[in-house]
Amino acid sequence: MCGIIGMVCKEKFESNDVIKMLKRLEYRGYDSFGIATDSGLFEKEIGEIKAVQNNFCKQAISHTRWSTHGRVTKANAHPHKDCTGNITIVHNGIIENYLELKKQLPKHVFVSETDTEVIAHYLEEKTRTKPIRDAITDFMKDAQGTFSVVVMIKGDENLYAFKRGSPLSLGLMKDGHVIASDIYAFSDKTDKAIFFNEDEFAIVTEKDYEFYRLIGNTLNPVTKDIITVKWSGCEEKKNFNHYMIKEIYEEPAVVERLINSLNTEQNSDLEKMKKLMTEAKRIVFVASGTSYHATLLGVYFLNKVGVEAHAIIASEFRNFYLVDKETLIVAVTQSGETMDVIEALHGMKDKGAKIASLVNVPYSTIQRMSNVSINIEAGQEICVAATKSFVNQVVCLAYLASMFEKKNSVEQVSKSIKHIFSQEEKIKQIAKSLAKHDDIYVIGRGFLYPIAREIALKIKEISYIHAEGMMGGELKHGTLALIEEGTPVLVLMGGKNEIVSNAMEVKARGGRIIEIGGNGVMGEFISIDAEDKLSSALSAAVIGQLLTYYIALEKGLPIDKPRNLAKVCTTK
Ligand code: F6R
Repeated sequence: MCGIIGMVCKEKFESNDVIKMLKRLEYRGYDSFGIATDSGLFEKEIGEIKAVQNNFCKQAISHTRWSTHGRVTKANAHPHKDCTGNITIVHNGIIENYLELKKQLPKHVFVSETDTEVIAHYLEEKTRTKPIRDAITDFMKDAQGTFSVVVMIKGDENLYAFKRGSPLSLGLMKDGHVIASDIYAFSDKTDKAIFFNEDEFAIVTEKDYEFYRLIGNTLNPVTKDIITVKWSGCEEKKNFNHYMIKEIYEEPAVVERLINSLNTEQNSDLEKMKKLMTEAKRIVFVASGTSYHATLLGVYFLNKVGVEAHAIIASEFRNFYLVDKETLIVAVTQSGETMDVIEALHGMKDKGAKIASLVNVPYSTIQRMSNVSINIEAGQEICVAATKSFVNQVVCLAYLASMFEKKNSVEQVSKSIKHIFSQEEKIKQIAKSLAKHDDIYVIGRGFLYPIAREIALKIKEISYIHAEGMMGGELKHGTLALIEEGTPVLVLMGGKNEIVSNAMEVKARGGRIIEIGGNGVMGEFISIDAEDKLSSALSAAVIGQLLTYYIALEKGLPIDKPRNLAKVCTTK
């Protein structure tokens, strides 16, 4: 996934200024990081981003890595250089044909296992016979895959930046420019930003910038709009030990903020979305991971009010759904940058489809690709695991459904979530006892089925325990074979009585039942105080989030930054 930065200023700045900005991109990957400056600093480290040697410079490029090609080593960390050491680059994305490009560079010495290094050598080779601008144009023509790249060249006052697929923005400061994977990187420097579109290339100096777009084989100059960004502020951990628990505790407040915004300033956009939904013959949600689980609830709530809707996982969207001009695609995404979702949306407008989205990060790529977009108002979410953003996605979807027929009340949600917080001690004790297990099963029916899947995902990613979340009715079709004496099964009570039969089948085989929302007839229980499906579903989800948090705490795991993951998935 990775985050990249390039900065060029009139006055000298400190290398650690750039590191501070890079820290805000850490959610994009945290395997290793690195920096190079025009005054000779070249430092790479494995692990968390931390201060580097102080170095005053006028140009710097920097990178935080989520490894794709090559293990987590210093050699594989960015920046990467060509053979001469004159060309230094940082890259986010994947060069799919890097082996092919590498074959064309037989005399070059490669020192890493990355796909990225080929870019530096490619540019070195091409600049033997042509200016860098043409070399980059050639690269954009020859390269397959996704990339956002910043290039720094010894003795050159320009930084060069270009992108396809991966996001890139330019911040306009008083005495210079900063290029970054996202605008939050420069949130303390400027509120003036330009977003790179597909196949755009910029030449950036301390006082100026020029943008070009590759159309066919030629670079064409383009004029860019400057956006004034409204910052919602960067979140602090305050008195909490982890962002995850802080973000869970914010849920009642962010739900209320969202409802207020949907009732007021976002109401006209909601009406636009409702109109698109009414005009469309079919509505299809596209999302990944936790956001996909939210869309399953969206389907449930819309179908219940007579609106046909479907949900498809983004990475398989094209294989499992036919889109035409009567389709409304609704992308649901916290980050607005998930590559699988972006890929699913590409070219859909050409087929006549309309695109709507629910997004948490304003100005994100998916928000900018949409005909209409609603902000879910969860505020910045820093823990890799989605918690408050999931709650607000579901509330927003229920609100939308209630615009067709008032079946859901969104007002009770925050009260029900507070009831869950009042049982924190009990949840902690149950979590402690779950921490020693290798497998946990979660079952639910109807509106609680998506929550079963969501709880299992949280348990896997944060507490490193294998977990399966499934429809209660499916258990007997295979998975029941895995239930042994003491196997924990979280049973999401509520909705249909059949879930009790499913739980009894588990109990009959020695399984340990933990009722989520029940009253302890079959085993231990955590109660839910909710009168409607939305509040019940979200209460169960919050119990799952707290259980996960306390299991991981018991196991001493890195809760906010679980191994192998990143907050934003910008690869396919
Ligand atoms: C899990 C989690 C991920 C994301 C998924 C989609 O806790 O956070 O599964 O939900 O990567 O991300 P967005 O919502 O940014 O598209």
